[in-house]
Amino acid sequence: MAEQYVAAVDQGTNSTRCILFDRRGRLVSVAQREHRQVFPRPGWVEHDAAEIWRNVTRVVPAAIRQIGAAASQVVAIGITNQRETSLLWDRRTGEPIGHAVVWQDTRTDRLVTELEGDDGPDRFADLCGLPLTTYFSAPRIRWMLDHTPGLRRRAERGEVLFGTMETWLIWNFTGGASGGLHVTDVTNASRTMLMNIETLEWDDTLLAAFDVPRAILPEIRPSSGVFGTATDVLPGVRIGAALGDQQAALFGQTCFSPGEAKCTYGTGSFLLMNTGQEIVRSKHGMLTTVAYRIGEHPATYALEGSMAVTGSLVQWFRDGLGMIHTAAEIETLARTVDDNGGAYIVPAFSGLFAPHWRSEARGVIAGLTGYITKGHLARAVLEATGFQTLEVVDAMNADSGIALTALKVDGGMTANNLLMQFLADLLDVRVVRPMVSETVSLGAAYAAGLAVGYWPDLEGLRSNWHRAGQWMPHMDPARRASEYANWQSAVQRTFNWIR
Ligand code: G3P
Repeated sequence: MAEQYVAAVDQGTNSTRCILFDRRGRLVSVAQREHRQVFPRPGWVEHDAAEIWRNVTRVVPAAIRQIGAAASQVVAIGITNQRETSLLWDRRTGEPIGHAVVWQDTRTDRLVTELEGDDGPDRFADLCGLPLTTYFSAPRIRWMLDHTPGLRRRAERGEVLFGTMETWLIWNFTGGASGGLHVTDVTNASRTMLMNIETLEWDDTLLAAFDVPRAILPEIRPSSGVFGTATDVLPGVRIGAALGDQQAALFGQTCFSPGEAKCTYGTGSFLLMNTGQEIVRSKHGMLTTVAYRIGEHPATYALEGSMAVTGSLVQWFRDGLGMIHTAAEIETLARTVDDNGGAYIVPAFSGLFAPHWRSEARGVIAGLTGYITKGHLARAVLEATGFQTLEVVDAMNADSGIALTALKVDGGMTANNLLMQFLADLLDVRVVRPMVSETVSLGAAYAAGLAVGYWPDLEGLRSNWHRAGQWMPHMDPARRASEYANWQSAVQRTFNWIR
């Protein structure tokens, strides 16, 4: 019998990929297409959802063709996606209404301050587990409904649909305007600020506070479970899972037990710790979020520390400043010097995320002297990711009461050895990377494969995890402390930029 595969579709911030996995969790083929980043004004970031769907229709067949397989060898599709990015579209025509507004976009900063009122950023934290910031979907939906004439009325009449990217993809996979399913999963819904973190349903208080009509919202489903059958791209194949990309990475790293954590280093970086069925409320700036829900089992929760700008800082160094030609070159440039020379870059491009949650913050380069070269700045770019991780780990340790002893990492930036060593040094823990570093896609594939019986259970998946890299800490504690103090003083300078 011909080999069977699970197809993961990862709709990320910069690109859309399809990866096929075999029964041993091995990556057998990858196809990828980037999409346009639209920056209409400072702080605004948009995507063309029609372009993204077109890319899906190309990467899926391309991944299958690459290994000479037939579409019938794909037993399930698992979808994973950039979270919080929000889109409205016309139910009847299937046309997007404007561009999708991306999670990095800060156009709602004033609206967010207004919504805080006298209660501050934690006004809705009890209900949804999240602070009020520009990061999540609800303020964005309100902004979109308020800024297109007549749209709110159409939305109230049920003519408009809302979705994050997995909702858009599933709707298109299952027929689009001619009967597509309008669904989301608990992990993505937990990032909208509209879902009640306990009941896992849309919450009337939140809907009223953000003025979002219930008629536009998708149905919330478990993350692993059959959503429906595709009629387009892979007709007849079941969609077995949908998860936000960071939750998918937690699943792909097989962090199935409370206390297990991973950090994914991509455009942004996201550290998630499994807290089991317990809803842990952070006192130190972490988010409470849903990790996954398998079928009708109770949901598993996580604490999350989100860093908005990490890999995208390297991208900016390359494309915005033209300092390097390829992202990989940053390591070579950083190695031309021994240290940062006293320079620190705090990339508050979208405000500062965890643990600060300051939407009004903007980036700084601190400690400049005539001594600073491109090499020092390259180091400061990489070190910014290390320092941000340290802030998150400190907060996570304080919340959980347990000090992390090792950090499982994955994502594109883990190819950078200088950064991985700096991380181990700064965190003073062992940093480990698995063989399959595409854990986002792997997690979506695992969740989809479980839903259709391709893999029997979680234990079987654990045995697929193999270590590929490891970094041990070596930094002198006094140096660690003084570097961190300098970073913290640079962070203070980013605050209150927008008044
Ligand atoms: O919350 C945003 C996150 O899901 C985006 O991930 O890897 O597409 O930048 P990524």
